[in-house]
Amino acid sequence: MAEQRELTALPPDYYRSIARVEQQHWWHCGMRDIAASLLEGRLARDCQAVLDVGCGTGGYLEWLKATGRFARLAGIDISAEALELTHERVPDAELALAGASEIPFADQSFDLVALNDVLQHIHEDELAASLAELRRVLHPDGALILRTNGAHHSRRDAADWRVYDTQTLRAELERGGFSIERITHANAVLSAWGELRGRAPRLPGADSHGIPGPAGGLATAVGSRVLGLEARLLRSHDRALPFGHTLFALATPASRPRSGPGEFFDEESVRYDNVYEASSAGGFILRARLATALQLIGDGPGNVLDAGMGGGRLVEELDRCGWTVSGVDISERMVALAQRRLPKRRESLRQGDLEALPFDDECFDVAVTTGALEYAIDLRQAIGELTRVVRPGGRVVASFPDYAAPFTVAQMRLWYPAVRLVKRAAPIGRPSPQPREHLLSPVAFARLLEAAGLVVDSVVPLGPRPLPQVVARRFARSGSRVAELLATQLVISAHRPAEAS
Ligand SMILES: C[S@@+](CC[C@H](N)C(=O)[O-])C[C@H]1O[C@@H](n2cnc3c(N)ncnc32)[C@H](O)[C@@H]1O
Repeated sequence: MAEQRELTALPPDYYRSIARVEQQHWWHCGMRDIAASLLEGRLARDCQAVLDVGCGTGGYLEWLKATGRFARLAGIDISAEALELTHERVPDAELALAGASEIPFADQSFDLVALNDVLQHIHEDELAASLAELRRVLHPDGALILRTNGAHHSRRDAADWRVYDTQTLRAELERGGFSIERITHANAVLSAWGELRGRAPRLPGADSHGIPGPAGGLATAVGSRVLGLEARLLRSHDRALPFGHTLFALATPASRPRSGPGEFFDEESVRYDNVYEASSAGGFILRARLATALQLIGDGPGNVLDAGMGGGRLVEELDRCGWTVSGVDISERMVALAQRRLPKRRESLRQGDLEALPFDDECFDVAVTTGALEYAIDLRQAIGELTRVVRPGGRVVASFPDYAAPFTVAQMRLWYPAVRLVKRAAPIGRPSPQPREHLLSPVAFARLLEAAGLVVDSVVPLGPRPLPQVVARRFARSGSRVAELLATQLVISAHRPAEAS
């Protein structure tokens, strides 16, 4: 069970106060009515399984239970007190003390996953991992129903507190591997009234934690009437409210657009492969990455897999070092280049997806991947696959961009989006840079390796870019703090612990 996290600055009666109001208060009732409108047909299916992530004091689970459609009810929360209150309300629910980034349930085990007023609090370092977890536990036909706070323009007031606009929420969910079925603001009328009185969603502080206070008769009458009207309006599939301090989304797991990186690297195969020979900073980084991977792997014999092998530069070198090499790549042309480079291993160099490796468990001594994980749709799944195919005691050597480095931040946040925009208007020349799915910091990436059961042994920073090669080489050799700060790539070596005998 996950450790309980510190909830800072919550009043001692926080959960009991919510528990007291959430069954009857017009705001909670209205929010559930709106959720019901969005879920529509999904609430008509029998024998479903639902997970409420951040279930709080159990009001939502109790409501879902009352629909009679759920054979399995589950909830997780990071507060033991909240779980106790949920248990009192829904004694048959499976409950666990856990956060969204480590959901203790099996893959594809829920038809519905709910996330109410939780997304805005997820620390930004854990956002990608949390969305991947939500998607992992959802059945391919299932849906995520999400409620968070909303505004016209997104705002980030703290690493663990944000307000979303529809565009940002949509982009976040799509990056996490979801397709949006519905997205709408809610609570429009009362939010407009609030705005007039200078009220907008704000960072929880000593005086406010977003718990609606006790409501008088008039407030209840008006509030429930207005939210009831919004719920009725939203029953129609094509309607959305353009304003409100609450945002709802209904999203389903996206089918995997496998063609993305495959098509891109088909087109770019020869050009990319030639960069290895170039005297540019890019060429320097590729050669440095290859040399580092080779050094970390060492000499054979043994079985090694290169996942996302590109044109086969690394497999060729590993073959020279006495390894029995296998390689996969999603791009047909990259595979053809690799086969041409190492014809004697032709049969073992084939097309394949690093998120679904076509190999049995534990059949390699080493799995290496350089420059490929950043294109994975489901990074956790890809790391899980690399771990699965190495034997206990075997190693995983993986490169990953340092998305916290100033150069990479500028490249991902400014340069690539600008190029994509221009190419959309005038699609000439080279294809647009591939969107990256997971802009994780090195620490968050290392945590994912550890979450897959690997033990990180060494991290080699590579770079810096975009300095001219001569300067870059000097910095890289110096091993100085400056070199580390300017590094744009990391090569990490980790091992899968040998099983206890
Ligand atoms: C930047 S290149 C790196 C190639 C080589 N590993 C290297 O270090 O030079 C990325 C490679 O990953 C491959 N790739 C991207 N997504 C993949 C996936 N899901 N499964 C397998 N290969 C993938 C691309 O086709 C491409 O050849």
